[in-house]
Parts: sequence; structure tokens; C-alpha cells
Amino acid sequence: MIRNFALSAAAALTFVVSGGVGNAAETAHVVIEDVAFAHEGPFGTFDRNQLQRGLQVYTEVCSACHGLKFVPIRTLADEGGPQLPEDQVRAYAANLSVNDEASNPQLIDPETGSARTLVPADKFPANHAAGAPDLSLMAKARAGFHGPYGLGLSQLFNGMGGPEYIHAILTGYTGEEKEEAGSVFYENHAFSTGWIKMPPPLSDDQVTYADGTPATVDQMSMDVSAFLMWTAEPKLMARKETGFKAVLFLLVFAALLYLTNKRIWADVKGKKTA
Ligand code: HEC
Repeated sequence: MIRNFALSAAAALTFVVSGGVGNAAETAHVVIEDVAFAHEGPFGTFDRNQLQRGLQVYTEVCSACHGLKFVPIRTLADEGGPQLPEDQVRAYAANLSVNDEASNPQLIDPETGSARTLVPADKFPANHAAGAPDLSLMAKARAGFHGPYGLGLSQLFNGMGGPEYIHAILTGYTGEEKEEAGSVFYENHAFSTGWIKMPPPLSDDQVTYADGTPATVDQMSMDVSAFLMWTAEPKLMARKETGFKAVLFLLVFAALLYLTNKRIWADVKGKKTA
């Protein structure tokens, strides 16, 4: 009896440790490395230059297939973001091309039937032509770190790892590819199934950074991941600032309450000294 119990307990434990049968098989390939982004931690702020470089990578590479349909172009000038000067935002909007006219009826000029010139008040165009998901919220929609069995400790210390996940996808290609049911799949260690339909988008020196940063695949991946974290959470810095003020206020308030409490009860409890 006891032996039986011990055996089944051991079996149950192995099952839990291996994360369940389905899960273990699915996540077998996934390797997501932590990246030290400037925006992490309680006092972290976005690195403005990095956001600008990430915007460049998105514009020159990713926007061919992916849209950013929830992001208003004018927010590129916002504090806490890439903070482009207003005239550059206007020029940027005017230069932006609409790669998928069918998904952007609001940007089509009814007279000419083709896309009009964009202005900062527009949102970035949607792009579904290549079957690629919209990237506006991708950094919050994916988690890089799951931590052990739902304790949430890994997330507490490392964050959810959304930008790390994007960085891992962009740097996780092995170079292998296969064709299945008419589609080409590329082997990628960070993707849940191990094979992704997105062709490797980056190669060294694909963009030329104005600030002279060497454009390695790793660097471009980090920059565009940080930029996508900003698109998914543009108020990150304002939120941290408010949180910091709130904690400070609560500390002072708690001290005042403690002293008030002491004074109110002073008569009843008596003072040790006269
Ligand atoms: C040639 C078109 C193309 C380009 C260029 C491209 N992608 Fe993709 N991307 C895709 C497609 C298609 C998918 C869907 C893949 C799938 O579901 O198998 C995808 C999926 C993704 C995903 C989601 C993975 C997931 O978990 O679902 C991310 C993140 C991503 N791309 C980021 C980027 C970034 C960042 C760039 C620019 C550096 C980029 N992509 C450039 C076509 C592209």
C-alpha cells in the first residue's frame, strides 16, 4: 500500500516537474535570454536613442509586412518616447508608405483610389497582406519568461519578457527551412512550434544608423524590441513616476498617522516620563 502510494507520488512529481506532457513537447525548443533593457526595473526609463533606432528598423524592415495600427504617428513626439521634433514627425508621416491599401480604407483618397499622404494625426497603417500579425501590442501579448509553475517569481524579478521574446525570435533562426503544405517554414528556436513562417528579416548592416551604432542583427533586434515595448506601453515612464510618488506619499502619510495615533492615545496610555 505504502509502496504503491510512493510510486504514484513519484510519478505525479515527475509529471509536474516535466511541466505536463503536452507542455514539455511544445516548449522543448524555446530558449529566451534575458536582455538588460534600459526601461527595466523600478527606475528604468526608455533610452530615447534606442527608440529612434528601433523606429528606423521598424520603418525600413518590419513595416513591409507588419502594421502598427494602434499607434498614432503624432506620439513619436511625446515625452518618454522617441521624442522626434514636431517637424520630423510631419516629414516622417508624409514619407510613410501604405503597403496594404485593402486594410486601410480610412487612408484611401476617394478621388484617386490610392493612399493619400499621411499626417501626424493618422495612425500607422495596418498591414495584413503578408499574413503577419500587427506589432502594436506584441511586446505585451507575448511573454518570454514563464517562471516555474505559476509562482510568478521569475516575472517579478525579470519582467514578463515581451521584448526579450521579440529579440529571441529575431535572433533565433538556425538557417534551416522546410516546405509544408505550400508554405515555407524557417527553423527558429524561440518560436513555440520551432518553425515560423516569417523569413529571417534581419541581416548585419541592413540599416545604417545615424548615430554610428554598428547595425548587427543583435543590436537591431534589441533596438526594435525596445521600440515595440514603447508602442505597447507608451506611458511606461509616466506610470513608474506616478507609482514612485504614490509610494513616497504613502510612506510620509504612514509616518504622520503613526505620530497622530501616539498623540491621541497619549493620555490613556500615559507617558513614561513626566
Ligand atoms: C517578409 C515579411 C516579414 C517581415 C519583413 C517581418 N515579418 Fe515578422 N512575421 C511575418 C509573418 C508572416 C509572421 C507570422 C509567422 C507565423 O505565425 O508563423 C510574423 C510574425 C512575427 C512575430 C510574432 C511571432 C509570434 O509569436 O507570433 C513577431 C514578434 C515579428 N514577426 C516581428 C518582426 C519584426 C520585429 C520585424 C522587423 C525586424 C519583422 N517581424 C519583419 C512576416 C514578416
